Amino acid sequence: MEDIVALCKRRGFIFQSSEIYGGLQGLYDYGPLGVELKNNLKQAWWTSMVYYRDDIEGLDASILTHPDVLKYSGHEDTFTDPLVDCKSCGLRFREDQVPDHCKDEDLTDPREFNLMFKTNVGPIDDGSNVAYLRPETAQQIFTNFRNIIDSTSRVLPFGIAQIGKAFRNEITPRNFIFRVREFEQMELEFFVKPGEDEDWHKEWVKLRSDWWEDQGIPKSRLTLLEVPQDDLSHYSKATTDIMYEFPHGQEELEGIANRKDFDLGSHTKNQEDLNITSNVNKNNSSNAKLAIQDIKTKEWIVPFVIEPSAGLDRGVLAILTEAYNLEKLDDGKERVVLSLKPHLSPIKAAVIPLKKNNDDLVAEAIKLKSELQTMNLGRIVVENTGNIGKSYRKHDEIGTPICITVDFDTLDNGTVTVRDRDSMKQEKVPLNKVASYFDNYFKA
Ligand code: GAP
Repeated sequence: MEDIVALCKRRGFIFQSSEIYGGLQGLYDYGPLGVELKNNLKQAWWTSMVYYRDDIEGLDASILTHPDVLKYSGHEDTFTDPLVDCKSCGLRFREDQVPDHCKDEDLTDPREFNLMFKTNVGPIDDGSNVAYLRPETAQQIFTNFRNIIDSTSRVLPFGIAQIGKAFRNEITPRNFIFRVREFEQMELEFFVKPGEDEDWHKEWVKLRSDWWEDQGIPKSRLTLLEVPQDDLSHYSKATTDIMYEFPHGQEELEGIANRKDFDLGSHTKNQEDLNITSNVNKNNSSNAKLAIQDIKTKEWIVPFVIEPSAGLDRGVLAILTEAYNLEKLDDGKERVVLSLKPHLSPIKAAVIPLKKNNDDLVAEAIKLKSELQTMNLGRIVVENTGNIGKSYRKHDEIGTPICITVDFDTLDNGTVTVRDRDSMKQEKVPLNKVASYFDNYFKA
């Protein structure tokens, strides 16, 4: 973990938030490379969900959430962690995360601590205008269910996908970006006919494991954990967690839950007219019928929901962990290489003029960068340090798959030297073939 944290800071992936004022615990900022990596991972998820399938719509809902949403979802009552105080060191911990140096006799009895951040909407702060920062992106998907079926005419099965920030006032944030107070989730709520839920649950567990493999995490490093009945969330009939071997141990990367009809059943009006199977609180506040009419039988159905819910920040940490390699080279030296899948690399290619102060080489490099940039495959940079060895080392370390050196052969014969990050092999490519080389590389 230390190596990854150091690399993230040194190269501009991830920084402690508000660092110049001592930092805020459990909050991180994504730097120039981190934001690219994160955006690439989001794009991969969105493309696989919304573009490659024909049964999923997208959504980007507000973060500030009406308190009724989180009342009927159960979060106001149950979104808590047990908190204990240590009378000896004066610190507070989640009950299951008390460090060894605190003795049992120094700990208070646990009390429930609600993890939601509360705020005030508008200028009057008298407690009547409360809103929450959403603790998961899921709830606004359920509250928009009617809007989305009315505007898209979807029939079952279909899903709604959303990527966005979630906030939890974790008692003990830790392990870098693994457990933080502000994070991003990539959540899908997939609505199915009751009775078809178990098959869809299995299907989504497989699809999601395959997707992580496509992001560079081998199946051998993932474990599927069936959450025991006693540990299930109040809404869940069954949950499978995709666990990954993080540097600090095996922990949850993504959860895939069968939420039955709990959510739509909780947020719908006219609950008594609908055949809701989950145990929901009476709702007299909602003005929308969150059900769908079966075209053949005309019966109103409250769909069951399968929810693959992935943490984006945990995804970034898993991908960095998997990609980070310290390699011994033939000449006895070492190199750090980030073997990211090319579609995730923050920088797709570095164009390097052989000499920093040669105007012709630099101009040729800038021209090539501009040409490659128009292909819209991601960020291309000109690396004008004048030191090829250092430039290669830097781009190995940040996962740039291709380095293109513009040298005197470029001016004389119109060729550049293309170097592959993983094999370190170099080949001469004619300038007029670089774009197709590049295109083929990223399409392969
Ligand atoms: N809508 C369901 C839900 O939110 P969850 O298991 O609480 O379920 C889903 O969260 C995913 O969000 C987790 O698998 C994890 O990847 C991520 N996550 C949850 N809490 C987090 C935190 N404090 N920091 C970073 N990621 C977190």
